Amino acid sequence: GGRPHGKAGKLTFETVAPNTLDAVTIPAGYQTEVVLRWGDPVEAGAPAFDLHNQTAAGQSKQFGYNNDFVGVLPIPGSKDRALLVVNHEYTNEDLMFPGFTGLDNLSVEQLKVAMAAHGLSVVEIERVGRTGRWKPVKSRRPHFNRRITALETKFELTGPAAGTPLLRTAADPSGRVVIGTLNNCAGGVTPWGTVLSGEENFNQYFVGGDQAPADAKPKLARYGFSTTARYPSGNRKWDRAQERFDLAKHPNEANRFGWIVEVDPFDPDAPPRKHTAMGRFKHEGANVIVARSGHVVAYMGDDERFDYLYKFVSDKKYIDSKAPWARKHNLSLLESGTLYVAQVAGDSPATEIDGSGKLPSDGKFDGKGKWIKLVSGNKSEVPGMTAADVLTFTRLAGDAVLATKMDRPEDVQPSLRTGKIYAAMTNNTNRGVGTNAPADEANPRNANKHGHIFEIVEDRGDHTGTSFTWSLPIVCGDPKAADTYFGGYDKNAVSPISCPDNVAFDSAGNLWISTDGNALGSNDGLFATAIEGRERGHLKQFLTVPKGAETCGPFITGDDRSVFVAVQHPGEITGASVEKPASVWPDGDYAKPAVIVTWRTDGGPIGS
Ligand code: FEO
Ligand code: CA
Ligand code: CA
Ligand code: CA
Repeated sequence: GGRPHGKAGKLTFETVAPNTLDAVTIPAGYQTEVVLRWGDPVEAGAPAFDLHNQTAAGQSKQFGYNNDFVGVLPIPGSKDRALLVVNHEYTNEDLMFPGFTGLDNLSVEQLKVAMAAHGLSVVEIERVGRTGRWKPVKSRRPHFNRRITALETKFELTGPAAGTPLLRTAADPSGRVVIGTLNNCAGGVTPWGTVLSGEENFNQYFVGGDQAPADAKPKLARYGFSTTARYPSGNRKWDRAQERFDLAKHPNEANRFGWIVEVDPFDPDAPPRKHTAMGRFKHEGANVIVARSGHVVAYMGDDERFDYLYKFVSDKKYIDSKAPWARKHNLSLLESGTLYVAQVAGDSPATEIDGSGKLPSDGKFDGKGKWIKLVSGNKSEVPGMTAADVLTFTRLAGDAVLATKMDRPEDVQPSLRTGKIYAAMTNNTNRGVGTNAPADEANPRNANKHGHIFEIVEDRGDHTGTSFTWSLPIVCGDPKAADTYFGGYDKNAVSPISCPDNVAFDSAGNLWISTDGNALGSNDGLFATAIEGRERGHLKQFLTVPKGAETCGPFITGDDRSVFVAVQHPGEITGASVEKPASVWPDGDYAKPAVIVTWRTDGGPIGS
């Protein structure tokens, strides 16, 4: 046949121009289509979506709101069937409920709809024809389809902090069973076929921090909870539906969120788990690589201005086998291990880092770093903190060992081709402002609006080690501006990029970057660049998303034929509503978050 073969490689696609259209735009020779949108049926018995009659029971069986992380896991033995696993990070009630006049005026049932619209979805999908086009399975009853919600799904806590007093509540004196997951942002797929998902801005769901116990307040404050107002601005008012969100009554409930969640999509009956051994912070996500020794190493970011980069090294070793006993073993890998935080230093004189983004005289933002051990199993390495303290209040442990304050660490992912690790520092407009930490070589711009990419190379290629070198391959912004850097590539030939959020790789090792909050004024999008060799830094825009939307995912399938993107919060513009939408994507009526798939019309590898 005429279908081109060959692996992904040089990025020859036609660059997409920045724009402000209410549409998804893609290069010539590609097609794109919605796979699933908010409200589509997921579980058996899901009612048809009815905007004007939403129920929590219905939403608990339908595709949730604000899709973020996307993972595609092939069903063993099939090239044409897979499980699509998606995070639903948060809700836009003003764009969900007709006649919205404020959270205080929502009914308790509507609040529960919002809770059910959070969480994750697992959906069986199947390839259409011979290209990279995929659709939800409709032909037979999908076996694996599942909704996980903030409203009622039971999670198991694992690891050294599980069951400790900090995690016990009136409803759960065991300290081991949590209802729901909150603000699931990015994530990763493990080699043993599960999905990791990060609980990020969980503070916004709780009220009553002003009435929390005095000893809890400094910790709550470090995690962004208000300790002075009952209802901090931006609060979601869920205490009206479930009392557990009131810290005045249930202060430990807050400690049961902010973890890495592991979901086994191939076992619909298995409770999802929250792994305390991986620490508690505003987890963007987690991505793992198997070290040469066989230990599993997870890289993680805490997405807050001036917060930290972490890694987790498992105690046990990965077993590379599909046998059920091996999978059972691998499912326990993230339950015990050692947690580290990053401390980095530049190699150029501090006087050459002036906060303007000007390259130092050695021509690179680069240097060395250390992984500082915080806790190993039940043994704390931080004076004055127990292991359970370190795991539950990991930010305070990072503060105590003087971890390096970064410009909002978002997605962190190792390249399975080179073993190098890439982290998106999305932006930090407070850098160097007032008494805040000034620019350093790793975060080289004050009032950093556009963000940068941070590359880690572990010494001797050992992912379990404690020392590394680092550099910034891309300093984002308008390539015409002096404070940007694209790996030394000709800046006249690259696309403008702002606010990198998620990273992914194709099988050739090209780095794909999606953005959130383009400070250059155009819509967000998806970009790709080679990261090795002469093309390093040749960044090209592949796709743009509609007005008000953020580009999440992305996920490139193992055969390189499809790229999945989560179009999150289309139409999220102040003052917009169902009646006066800022976006009518994807169906022409009102805005709906949706996962799309983009493929090459001729079936060839994406990007090439
Ligand atoms: Fe939910 Fe850090 O983006
Ligand atoms: Ca340098
Ligand atoms: Ca994100
Ligand atoms: Ca983000």
